Amino acid sequence: MLRRFWHCLFPMSDLGDTPRPFRLLGENIVVWKDAEGAPHAVQDRCPHKTAKLSLGYLQNGDIICPYHGWAFDGDGLCTLIPQELAPRERRVHVRAYHCAERYGQVWVCLDEPALDIPEVEPFNDPSFRQVFEFSEDWACSPLRIMENEFDAAHLSFVHATSFGNTDPIPALPAIEVLDDGFIARSQPAVRNPESMRSAIHMTSATTVRTTTGRYYVPFFRVTEIAYPNGLKNILVTALTPIDDRNTRFNQFVLRNDTEEQVSTAQVIAFDRKVTLEDKLILESTDPDVPLDASEDDEEHMASDRPGLLMRKKIRAFCDELRKAGDLGALLEVRLAGE
Ligand code: FES
Ligand code: CO
Repeated sequence: MLRRFWHCLFPMSDLGDTPRPFRLLGENIVVWKDAEGAPHAVQDRCPHKTAKLSLGYLQNGDIICPYHGWAFDGDGLCTLIPQELAPRERRVHVRAYHCAERYGQVWVCLDEPALDIPEVEPFNDPSFRQVFEFSEDWACSPLRIMENEFDAAHLSFVHATSFGNTDPIPALPAIEVLDDGFIARSQPAVRNPESMRSAIHMTSATTVRTTTGRYYVPFFRVTEIAYPNGLKNILVTALTPIDDRNTRFNQFVLRNDTEEQVSTAQVIAFDRKVTLEDKLILESTDPDVPLDASEDDEEHMASDRPGLLMRKKIRAFCDELRKAGDLGALLEVRLAGE
């Protein structure tokens, strides 16, 4: 089912003059940038003798196999077999995947996309700047990480030394269920430790923030955190399954302040500390997440509702994709709410 979704791999700036390997959903792929700067992705396995194309090099926008020099274009078509003068009757291919640049990142879909890459509207708003925070691998399920992003109850524990307040009973979000995810709105009161105040232009010890978190199936979220002073900090997180146990964690933020007010390094440091607090705990969790309520052996509480809704949404997409079989039918799918 996950092959039918777009996944964010890494920032475009990671693509230089050489091909770059990536493992997506257990499949080895190779990504490169053509002469016009557009990204392409194909299977990292030469159709001749299976050598890894990612060990090869780029020439005129094509990727060249390191073993015998066969050349492949961005559509996976073999454009040159240096050992043969006449073209073959049947063209040689390496399997190519959907690949696109969006939000300065490389996105790949291994199969026919079930949905488009989600629209992040403030990205086109000139009053917002974009700050890349990180693209790194975690030994954890993407769903555990995504559930954690909407888990209000962990703040007072995991983030007790950074911004979590001392009240263990969290402000529960109001949830609006949508076809491809949900919106969770809440107004949590959080602490502003001395070390973090300048990054949010605040001097007070606590703030009530207005948080609007948009979750998209399967592992994408856009969370706007609005502060009383007008600052908006929008966290954009794309979690990409490398395999059953590992996740590429991509995050950038959009902010309506300037580099002169708060430097890029300061923005990154602010979220970095918080993220590393999460990492330690999340990597200790079970990578298997029960999607089916009948197989669920975990205990739950009220604040787990957003996470359980994610499981339900993903499960519904799995069922519909299995049933629908073809893209036309899939687009007709309207998932029931809760
Ligand atoms: Fe790639 Fe021979 S293995 S050209
Ligand atoms: Co956290």
